[in-house]
Amino acid sequence: MKRYKIKNLSALETFVMEHKNQFDVPHCFAFKGEMGSGKTTLIQLLLKAIGIDELQGSPTYSIVNQYYNEISNKEYFHLDCYRIKNNFEALELGLEELFNEKKTIFIEWPEKVIQFLPKETVWITIHHESDDTRTIDIAYEY
Ligand SMILES: Nc1ncnc2c1ncn2[C@@H]1O[C@H](COP(=O)(O)OP(=O)(O)OP(=O)(O)O)[C@@H](O)[C@H]1O
Ligand SMILES: [Mg+2]
Repeated sequence: MKRYKIKNLSALETFVMEHKNQFDVPHCFAFKGEMGSGKTTLIQLLLKAIGIDELQGSPTYSIVNQYYNEISNKEYFHLDCYRIKNNFEALELGLEELFNEKKTIFIEWPEKVIQFLPKETVWITIHHESDDTRTIDIAYEY
C-alpha cells in the first residue's frame, strides 16, 4: 500500500499530474471515502488530465457517466454507486458486464457493487484529515 499526503487542492492537482498514467489503463479503480472526502474531485481531475475536456458533472443521479477521448480512441467511465440499493439494481444497470469489459472505470461508493468488482480492482482510499488536507492510499487489494 502506498500513502500520499495531500495538503490542498493545488497539491491534489500535482498528485494527479504525477500519477495520471497509472490511472489511464483498462482497469477498475474503486474510490472509497466518506461523504465530502474528495472522490468526485479527484476523479474529475484525473479525467481532465487524461484528456477529457467536457466533464458531465458528478454522476450522483445518473450513476454512470461515460466519456470518450477521440484522440486516443479510449473510453472512460465515472460511476457513483451511492444510490444503488441492491445487487439486483446493479445487475439491471449492466455493471457486472461493464466491470469485465477491460475499460478504465472510476467508481465512487464501490462497497455497493463489491460483489461484481474484478479481483484486480485497484483500491483508492481518501481520508479527510482536516480542512483541505487529505491522505490518499492506493492498494492492490481490499
Ligand atoms: N485536498 C483536497 N482534495 C479533495 N477535495 C478537497 C481537498 N481540499 C478541499 N477539497 C474540497 O472538498 C470537497 C470534496 O467534495 P467531493 O464532492 O469531491 O467529495 P465526494 O467524496 O465525492 O463526496 P460524495 O461522497 O458526496 O460523493 C470539494 O468541495 C473540494 O473542493
Ligand atoms: Mg462524489
